[in-house]
Amino acid sequence: MNNFVYDIPTRVYFGTGQLVNLGKELKRFGTRVLLVYGGGSIKRTGLYDTIVGEISKAGLELHEFSGIEPNPRHTSVNAGAAICREKNIDVVLAVGGGSVIDASKFICAGRYYNGDIWDFFRDKTTPIERALPLVTILTLAATGSEMDPGAVISNMDTHEKIGRADPKLLPKVSFLDPTLTYTVSKYQTACGSADIFSHISETYFARKDNGLYMLDKFAEGIMKTVIRNAPVAMEDPENYEARANLMWAGSWAINNFIRIDTPNKWSCHPLEHELSAFYDITHGLGLAIVTPRWMRHVLNEETLPMFVRFGVEVWEIDYNLPDMEIALEGIRSLEDFLYKDLGLTSNLTDLGITDEHFEEMAARITKNGPLMGFAPLTKEDCLAIYKACL
Ligand code: NZQ
Ligand code: ZN
Repeated sequence: MNNFVYDIPTRVYFGTGQLVNLGKELKRFGTRVLLVYGGGSIKRTGLYDTIVGEISKAGLELHEFSGIEPNPRHTSVNAGAAICREKNIDVVLAVGGGSVIDASKFICAGRYYNGDIWDFFRDKTTPIERALPLVTILTLAATGSEMDPGAVISNMDTHEKIGRADPKLLPKVSFLDPTLTYTVSKYQTACGSADIFSHISETYFARKDNGLYMLDKFAEGIMKTVIRNAPVAMEDPENYEARANLMWAGSWAINNFIRIDTPNKWSCHPLEHELSAFYDITHGLGLAIVTPRWMRHVLNEETLPMFVRFGVEVWEIDYNLPDMEIALEGIRSLEDFLYKDLGLTSNLTDLGITDEHFEEMAARITKNGPLMGFAPLTKEDCLAIYKACL
């Protein structure tokens, strides 16, 4: 087990009616606020009016930047950072899902960088010296960006989607009101749930046997929380308990708690990010297609014990069955959850995707050698997994 430092200083306001604290929290950082949001869902739901009201009550100066894309582009980040410099913004308020929050994190850092923000991604050694404070209002339970130091940005000119994490990017304050997710569509609820599940399972598998037992059980608990609550939220979008469970599960899946004592070695996310980079598909959908194929590919006598644990502890499969049967039944249960309960598309062919770019995608993932996740993946392994997704 590794030594660790746990330090997630994001203040979370969880529950309904907490936005009355928004003005007070923003004021801690200054008076000039940049409100960043996406394609307009916050206007349709009325959240925009509530926010403007709270900001006005607090006597703060409001500036706006909207139109952040799902799979946010580096060009939007550059434009947002330019506004921060021009208007001398004190604090950024991100309102939306992971895309808006991720873009805002790099808008905060870009404020102090006089160049193309893509430099931070192309060359991860470019230090993030400073960043504006970030406050978030989450409207979609999925990425955990509201309580983690990471952000993922796309460059559609070069077909690259790259993530970077830095403690300076952690939101200072996040508002998590489950009722704000009542309007999330069935499709986005499904994709978000698949993403949360993947954040936990990636960590769970990478944990192997050398970490804290408590965190293994915690990870299994959050996976079961998603399995239980996602179908409820799909059927009954205004079910507070289901939305609240998904929201808090989303934050704890990736806020460094469950992965703090083991190396952070993920496999499905690098495979998915190439899919999004080339085809602009929804992140959670890509994970739903890739994950079971990755599992079948890496399942062997050596990795079997981990799959048995996954099958028995997460899917409650009878531990008296032969080990390989438990493992395969666990993967089948995950497939049923993703493709039947959540109704997600199960293959790339149905999305109109062919093997045209698979070679290039696999080569990029392994450009520095095999991907060292739960099981090492060579270029040929990545290629085989992509082909199995067709
Ligand atoms: O843009 P608006 O109009 O707000 O609509 C959004 C968007 O179209 C809509 N939406 C959000 N809240 C809503 C709503 N519609 C109705 N009612 C609401 N309350 O949902 C659509 C998708 O939003 P998006 O923010 O793109 O989804 P998500 O939260 O899944 O974020 C995905 C992005 O986050 C990255 C992904 O790669 C992708 O770029 N990730 C970020 C991570 C992180 N920061 O740690 C980790 C993840 O693994 C992931 O890579
Ligand atoms: Zn993810």
